[in-house]
Amino acid sequence: MAFRVRTVRDLEEFRVALGSIGHYFGWVPTDDDATRFSSLLPFERMHAVLDDGRIVAGAGAFPFQLTVPGGKLSCAGITVVGVLPSHRRRGLLSRMMNAQLADVRERGEPIAALWASEETIYGRYGYGLASLGLHIDAERGSVAIRGERTTTTRLVDDDEALRSFPRVYRPVSRTRPGMIVRTADWWRTKQLDDAPERRRGAGPLVRALFERDGKPVGYALYRLAQSGSSPEDWKKTIRVVEAFGVDDAATRDVWRFLLEIDWVDRIEAYHLPLDHPLPLLVDRVNKLHLKVWDALWVRVVDVPRALAGRSYAGRGRVTLEVTSDGHFPENVGSWTIEDGSVRRARRRPDVRVPVEALGSAFLGGIPFAELEAAGHAEEAARGGIARADALFGAPAPWCPEIF
Ligand SMILES: CC(C)(COP(=O)(O)OP(=O)(O)OC[C@H]1O[C@@H](n2cnc3c(N)ncnc32)[C@H](O)[C@@H]1OP(=O)(O)O)[C@@H](O)C(=O)NCCC(=O)NCCS
Repeated sequence: MAFRVRTVRDLEEFRVALGSIGHYFGWVPTDDDATRFSSLLPFERMHAVLDDGRIVAGAGAFPFQLTVPGGKLSCAGITVVGVLPSHRRRGLLSRMMNAQLADVRERGEPIAALWASEETIYGRYGYGLASLGLHIDAERGSVAIRGERTTTTRLVDDDEALRSFPRVYRPVSRTRPGMIVRTADWWRTKQLDDAPERRRGAGPLVRALFERDGKPVGYALYRLAQSGSSPEDWKKTIRVVEAFGVDDAATRDVWRFLLEIDWVDRIEAYHLPLDHPLPLLVDRVNKLHLKVWDALWVRVVDVPRALAGRSYAGRGRVTLEVTSDGHFPENVGSWTIEDGSVRRARRRPDVRVPVEALGSAFLGGIPFAELEAAGHAEEAARGGIARADALFGAPAPWCPEIF
């Protein structure tokens, strides 16, 4: 049987390749779905595997920019990866990942990032767990946020959301590693899209805008879901899609609003960063029922360009040795970071890491000390781990959306 890996050539191939992951959601993409999706993910970024001419697997890469400490970098946002069950465990994922990574490098994107359906899959392709996210499942009647409001709230329509929400998201996303730089198309096609299949049993998307002195300073996107068959066992849940404030006071107001909505039993929210103020804002943290989950995975595709593409805290110096990279031997070796510049090192390394552990540390979300404790990094010179952490530290990464 002859398998062939290549990128798709037209909308119909794109639609069928999308259907490989669609299979696992019970979703058969239509031409309209494929058209919308391909406005963000061009055909040349969608790999497929063909079995005797029939597409049986797909893997895409959004070309977007991702906030990294101190700036933003071109990033391949790996998405819609699927192999039909008729073809599982015959190496098709590996063939697609190899072709995709080679393509990412050739395009000059120094990093790739993804959300993993299962944590056991992507380490073999050089991805490292780069951030953890908080999930909440709050009991509405048991948690409160005290204090005075500084904003007013309006429920707005899609057009107004499209105009005003980016004015909140933009400043937040600029300083938070892990956030995607969103285009108007991205807002329309992903964040504000309210197609029935996105509701998953809940009601329409609610768009709440928070203003201070007439300016947008926060927003919440959420849906209401109801379960139970009689008034006695009705359960009403707010499913928060995302919620932001441009400053601490606005963030407090957004969350106070969500936690106070009447006649609601629970509030669910996902993928909050580990340093989100919510656990300290509420009076009863345990009633949030916090869970920690894996979030963004990062692959450093071009080590020197990626390292030079982020900023560092302070003006120290550290030398990292990348000990292995199963795809790009040119990444292996020692690299000195000093005053924001990166060069091949002549000196002894401070820290040794395989490329996937460098992916974990890259956004500043997982300290080298934790990687060392877990056996994923090795201190090569005394104090090296502390020196590396002093430079790499950054606000906890936050990617509020599964892409
Ligand atoms: C996950 C999936 C893409 C794997 O595809 P596949 O073609 O069966 O994978 P391959 O045969 O290329 O396997 C490559 C390696 O990954 C391993 N692997 C594959 N899927 C795995 C999983 N779910 N958990 C752990 N290991 C896995 C294989 O054992 C193999 O290991 P090896 O290199 O040590 O031999 C496929 O099962 C699938 O479509 N799953 C449902 C959708 C999904 O989860 N997509 C990922 C979205 S992020």
